[in-house]
Parts: sequence; structure tokens; C-alpha cells
Amino acid sequence: MDKQTILDMQHVSFVYDSDRESSSYSSEPTEPPALSDVSLTVKEGEYVAVLGHNGSGKSTLAKLINMILTPTEGVIRLFGRDVTTDDFTEEDMYDMRERVGMVFQNPDNQLVATVVEEDVAFGPENLALPREEIRRRVHTALAVVGMTEYAHHAPHKLSGGQKQRVAIAGVLAMKPKVIIFDESTAMLDPLGRRQIVDLMDKLNHEDGITILHITHYMQEAARADRVIVMDDGHIVLDGAPREVFSQVERLRDLGLEAPQGTELIHRLRADGWDIADDGLTVDACAEAILQSLGLGKE
Ligand SMILES: Nc1ncnc2c1ncn2[C@@H]1O[C@H](COP(=O)(O)OP(=O)(O)OP(=O)(O)O)[C@@H](O)[C@H]1O
Ligand SMILES: [Mg+2]
Repeated sequence: MDKQTILDMQHVSFVYDSDRESSSYSSEPTEPPALSDVSLTVKEGEYVAVLGHNGSGKSTLAKLINMILTPTEGVIRLFGRDVTTDDFTEEDMYDMRERVGMVFQNPDNQLVATVVEEDVAFGPENLALPREEIRRRVHTALAVVGMTEYAHHAPHKLSGGQKQRVAIAGVLAMKPKVIIFDESTAMLDPLGRRQIVDLMDKLNHEDGITILHITHYMQEAARADRVIVMDDGHIVLDGAPREVFSQVERLRDLGLEAPQGTELIHRLRADGWDIADDGLTVDACAEAILQSLGLGKE
């Protein structure tokens, strides 16, 4: 069966000051659009990484998808519903927001309660679900993120990575179909980061949750099935990690670098080495180099 298109953006632009009261006599120049003519479709179950230098429009894109912002121009359909028409009520928006969860950069800004399990219960409680259902959801969500033993702890005493896992549990308790991570690993130490990306992989592969992962870490983006690169409010590259990262020079022009392994193999090739693999991961890179030296595995 065909996978459902869950996100369909057509010619979407967004200008931050468009809501401001503006007199037609004003000589003040309008802000350049933060997003310009972006068209993007994402199907159920996709795992998409979003890259782009600072200010390229990644967070604006995320906020439009999560209906925190409304497009200045263009149409956004979520699960087949046009969320940009007047017919789309506030009630519809809450319904949609259950399906589209969002995890931000700073976990401290996302935790609301003084006990972990109460924090995770916050969303479902707002849905006025039966107590037993709330308890079940909290229990499951904490188990999925590996934080069951901290259920009665105070969130502010946890490490950054643990806090972020609690924040993710809070999103999972809403049973979302899509989760947008906006640089959710940026403030974490390497172990915390790895645990969060491992969790993203698991949510996608095992639970079929569609993932949009905005990140500055190329190695993290390489784990997705699809990589989108933004520049100056536009989507400029969109493809499998292998396709996108093989364009080493183009990425450099966009202020980005390919993952280190890919960069290394690119340079070795330029020096005349015959290497077949693109070395998206450190292991793949090491193996490719060993192969070309005749030292690879069978
Ligand atoms: N609240 C705001 N008011 C006015 N302009 C804004 C606002 N937020 C972002 N912008 C501008 O919109 C453009 C896109 O910003 P956005 O935050 O979407 O970029 P980003 O790719 O998420 O950057 P970063 O990597 O730094 O998070 C930038 O030029 C930015 O300065
Ligand atoms: Mg951002």
C-alpha cells in the first residue's frame, strides 16, 4: 500500500514582520523572507534530516509545520488537511498538534513539572483522557526513552541528555505520528547526543514515527534516509545522504561540510585512490580505506 503523504507544503513563504501594522506610507523596508517558495512533501515513516547554516530557515520551517507560525504565502497540508484555510479551526489545530510533536534545543525550557512522571503526564492530562490511559501512556513513554527508574525524580537534577529524554517521553505520551527535533542534541555531551539519536533511529525503525531532525552534526544527518539542505530560505538539496554528501564542493559553498569520512574519501579520490564507498559513517570509511589497501574483510 502507498504510504500516506503526511506533509505537503506548496510554494510556502514566510516573512517575520508580515503581521506588523504597516502603513502604506511607511518607507521602512520589509524584512527579507525567512522562507521563500518552499515546496516539500514528506511521507509517513520517512526519516529526514534538515541541514543548513545559521539563519537559513530551518526553525522557521519547523514552526510552520507545527503551526506555531502561519505562512505568508502558500499552502500547508498535514495528513491531507489544509491547515492554512479559514475552515481550519483552533480545535482542528489541537487535534493536529497531537500528531505532530516537537522537541527543542534546550530541555530546561520544555520541562514543566517538579516530578518526571508528572511532566510526562502533562500533555495527556490536557487531553482529558481517563486516568488509567494517562498512567499507561506515561509508563510506556518512560520505558521507550529508558527513564522508567527516574519516574519519581526531580527533572532539574537530571543530566541534559536525561532531561531531553524526559521531554521526548512527554511528546511520545501524546502518541504523535511525526516528531520534529530542532537541534535537540546541540546542548548535550557526546554520550547524551548518541542516546538521543539512537532513540530517534528506534522511534523511526521500530515504531514507524516520521522523524524530521534539524541538526548541525553531519554524522547525525547521515543516519537519516533523506537529507534536505536549506540556504537563504530555500531548499537547495534534497536526496539520500549518499547523494547529498557526495557533493562535497557544493556543501562547502553552502557553508557546510560533508561528514568527516566522506570528506576524507573525497580527498583520497582526488589524490588518485580508487575507493568505491562514500564512507558515510566512521566504520564505513575505515572499511573502504582498508578495502582499497587490499586489507578489507572478505
Ligand atoms: N522571531 C524572529 N523575528 C524576526 N526574524 C527572525 C525571527 N526568527 C528568525 N528570524 C530570521 O529568519 C531567518 C531564518 O531564521 P531561522 O531561525 O529559521 O534559521 P535557522 O536555520 O533555524 O538558524 P539556526 O541554525 O541559527 O537555528 C533568519 O534570517 C533569522 O534572522
Ligand atoms: Mg534554528
